[in-house]
Amino acid sequence: MGFREKYGEWAFVAGGSEGMGGAFCDRLAKEGMHVVVTGRHGDKIENKCRQLESDFGVQTKALVIDLGELDVLDQVKAATDGLEIGFLVYNAGLASMSLFPDRDIDFELYRLNVNVRSQLALSLWFSKGMNERKKGGIILLSSVGGIVGSPYIQTYSATKAYNFTLAEALWGELSDLGIDVMAVLPGNTIGQNFSEVPAGTPGFQTGAEVVEEAFVHFGKEPAFIAGQHNRDLLGNMFPIEMRKQAIVLMKQQLEATMAQFGTGEDKR
Ligand SMILES: NC(=O)c1ccc[n+]([C@@H]2O[C@H](COP(=O)([O-])OP(=O)(O)OC[C@H]3O[C@@H](n4cnc5c(N)ncnc54)[C@H](OP(=O)(O)O)[C@@H]3O)[C@@H](O)[C@H]2O)c1
Repeated sequence: MGFREKYGEWAFVAGGSEGMGGAFCDRLAKEGMHVVVTGRHGDKIENKCRQLESDFGVQTKALVIDLGELDVLDQVKAATDGLEIGFLVYNAGLASMSLFPDRDIDFELYRLNVNVRSQLALSLWFSKGMNERKKGGIILLSSVGGIVGSPYIQTYSATKAYNFTLAEALWGELSDLGIDVMAVLPGNTIGQNFSEVPAGTPGFQTGAEVVEEAFVHFGKEPAFIAGQHNRDLLGNMFPIEMRKQAIVLMKQQLEATMAQFGTGEDKR
């Protein structure tokens, strides 16, 4: 079954104008999906859209948006009204290295918005349509820096833990509904960060390499560490098979709890 048939007409790539995000757009367009390309800079997005149209013959839609703003969901709903979004890649994420006491609180809250808040908002919103259609795909970008609390990238690391935990939970919950979900955990990747590093540098992957590897595992695993060198370094601390079993055990336990004691309530 082709991607459009399996997942839907359109893909939405949050942070898709270049680097790894651009490679996700290429991969999905190669599979025949139309693509909504987003980012903060209109010129880069327009270039990406024209390239996708000419290379792959798909339709595109450009959406200039700052995923750190608080009204992201309203903007996305307006821009995608009438489009069947069958695939979400939430790629954008902000990383930098610094001592914790030197961090600026306003930027850290902005980082939370980009890395976590908007990812939650878009995943939840698009999952509703996917659930109605009983098909869809979601890829959330995490990082090997999310596997363990990592010095110098402390707040980024915590957001990346959120990203893979959310993807694991959704994998356990949504696969029965026809929706494939996976977290991708790259290590050092040439993209908006490390843009000057030459391809082929040991310890680095290109965005396209990460994406190609990710799509081999998509639909099978809840999470995937990109790059053999990263799997050699940190794979033992992130045993995918054990985590899969743990997700299933948690699912069974929570279903039993809900059946016996109810679901609890969201109270403000
Ligand atoms: N690169 C690495 O070494 C590495 C390692 C591990 C994990 N990751 C994860 O992989 C993902 C991609 O990171 P990357 O550094 O490789 O970037 P990238 O994919 O090369 O580029 C980031 C994309 O996101 C857009 N973007 C950035 N900030 C945005 C914002 N506030 N609102 C809307 N769009 C925004 C950029 O466009 P504009 O600039 O025009 O907004 C661009 O299209 C991130 O989630 C990152 O945490 C990266």
